[in-house]
Amino acid sequence: MMKPEMKGIHVVATGHYAPGNVVTNDDLSKIVETNDEWIRQRTGIERRHFTEGEKNSDIAYKAAKMALEKSGIDVNDLAALVVATFSPDYFVPSVACILQRELELPTDMPCFDLNAACSGFLYAIQVARGLLLQSRKRYALVIGSEVISKVLDMDDRGTCILFGDGAGAAVIELDETKKYFSYLGAEGNEEYIYCPNADEEKRKVHMDGAKVFKFAVSTVPKCINGVLEESGLSKDDIDYFVCHQANKRIIESVAQRLDIPMEKFYINLQEYGNTSAASIPIALSEMEEKGLIKKGMKLICVGFGAGLTWGGALIEW
Ligand code: COA
Repeated sequence: MMKPEMKGIHVVATGHYAPGNVVTNDDLSKIVETNDEWIRQRTGIERRHFTEGEKNSDIAYKAAKMALEKSGIDVNDLAALVVATFSPDYFVPSVACILQRELELPTDMPCFDLNAACSGFLYAIQVARGLLLQSRKRYALVIGSEVISKVLDMDDRGTCILFGDGAGAAVIELDETKKYFSYLGAEGNEEYIYCPNADEEKRKVHMDGAKVFKFAVSTVPKCINGVLEESGLSKDDIDYFVCHQANKRIIESVAQRLDIPMEKFYINLQEYGNTSAASIPIALSEMEEKGLIKKGMKLICVGFGAGLTWGGALIEW
């Protein structure tokens, strides 16, 4: 019998959704003292999407529906639904439970949210894989979905320009022919980035940008090297690196440190800003839509964020 640790995952289908309200850098410059040139140069971000009246579960629904329809699976074959988010509709019920009803999923499966901030999707994939190893059912639905605009301090130009709303989803199954390695970590820290559990008015993201930047440029190489070491692969074996989309300068610094050409890093932060747990699945779904990822390609995805948390995963398409 195949050892559990040998079983990789196959991404059967992906989906994504970004709300229609596009907020440009110029739009933000009317609210806070900033300008398009500064934001582009310091972050690479050009616009982001903010929800207007849509809840987290509404946008997660759209990404999930797209992934489920593309996959063609019978939802009765789902073993689990895991939603990575730090910006749910409610403390309870979870976004996942709301989606169970809205997507008409069977009731005999676990549906829950998981909070690992911007590393959430990679945590969720690893948890879903663990659940699949215990299940007789074949598939899991994994979603990263965020409505960060609701917790942005629009007076703080150091944070409000960085984030956006969006959702990405993937249907996965176990597949012993695929390579999969996961490298996850966490370290308690409320200093670099936090969002207090307070009245709505005070529930805003606070961040020390410079400290987060330093953390990111050392953590992403650590995750990439961790995955390469575990898998016995070299950086040249990897077709794409899909990093959490926080700041283009972070990705450029990682490419330089690891001597990997920038063309191997997928970048879409110019369109969405930082969508936290949604950024990696949105990128994967877009890459699939553009025909960039083909069967057999090897990807390393890397997330990092509040917690602090981090994660890397080798996914063979
Ligand atoms: N528009 C114009 N000026 C701005 C600005 C904005 N939106 N935000 C900050 N500034 C100003 C600062 O006030 C500062 O002015 P000063 O020199 O007069 O004091 C100057 O620009 C430089 O600020 P600094 O914070 O040093 O800029 P930076 O190059 O470090 O960029 C971030 C700031 C936030 C873009 C950057 O630190 C960053 O991206 N950090 C990581 C954040 C992140 O990824 N968070 C999510 C993790 S999941």
